[in-house]
Amino acid sequence: MIKQTPDQYLVYGNPIKQSRSPDIHHIFASKCQQNINYKKQLVGLDDFSTAVSDFISQGGKGANVTAPFKEQALRLADVLTERASLAGAVNTLTFNKGKIYGDNTDGEGLVQDLLMHGVILKQSRILILGAGGAVRGVLLPMLAQDPNAITIANRTVSKARDLCQHFNDERLNACSFDETIGQEFDLIINATSASLSGDLPAIPASIITTSMVCYDMVYGKNETPFLKWAKAQGAFKVIDGLGMLVGQAAVSFSVWRGVTPDVQPVIDILRAAIKEG
Ligand code: ATR
Repeated sequence: MIKQTPDQYLVYGNPIKQSRSPDIHHIFASKCQQNINYKKQLVGLDDFSTAVSDFISQGGKGANVTAPFKEQALRLADVLTERASLAGAVNTLTFNKGKIYGDNTDGEGLVQDLLMHGVILKQSRILILGAGGAVRGVLLPMLAQDPNAITIANRTVSKARDLCQHFNDERLNACSFDETIGQEFDLIINATSASLSGDLPAIPASIITTSMVCYDMVYGKNETPFLKWAKAQGAFKVIDGLGMLVGQAAVSFSVWRGVTPDVQPVIDILRAAIKEG
């Protein structure tokens, strides 16, 4: 019997050591009986496009892209999905018959994770904190879930306004953190990078209600400052971003392989590994 060589994938980033993508994709592959090999590659800041062409010439089938190359990946792609184009960033590249296809699976990863937790997005009122790349990356798939309104609150309000203008959807509106006072929300998503530095976005405690779900795109060994705070204010449910990480990987996997893997076993494995440190 001839043993087939596995299809090659990788993730580009700088830094990249911290990436869990190879583990995630190898678990997906073994559960879905897909013959793939997935590595991580550290790329010099000026070497991204050369690294991609080298990989294509070696027969690479696809790649994930993480910071700081997502915008460069967008420019490199010959064909973009609408969600990647509006996000202004690509995290999933597919190489096929001489063409480079660019997609962005972050937003769908977030949506799938929220739905898996039983969060109802249809006709909901959502508050997103932050107006950087993380928010831009998820807005189209969030809007596709048919919420009543998405309010984008940011420390620098002009950036939130720019995002609303860019997406040009009447369900979107922008405000400062203080202007959220008196408004009602079903779900708050912290998409600021504040948690990464142990900070809490300065939002008023009065907007947290006992029926509200609070989500942080960041995850870690300990509960993030935002989720800890939201819980203390009496939020109904708090969820961290581990499921979004695994979710975006699952969507990439299905873009490449045509099969959608089950995310829960991988979330459980990663959660245990993170707890152990
Ligand atoms: P990312 O790609 O993770 O979105 P980014 O584009 O640098 O990163 O955006 C970071 C976001 O986190 C911004 O919305 C930023 O607010 P400003 O636009 O006012 O800078 C927000 N942010 C970072 N630290 C914050 C903090 N301590 N409190 C509130 N918002 C914070």
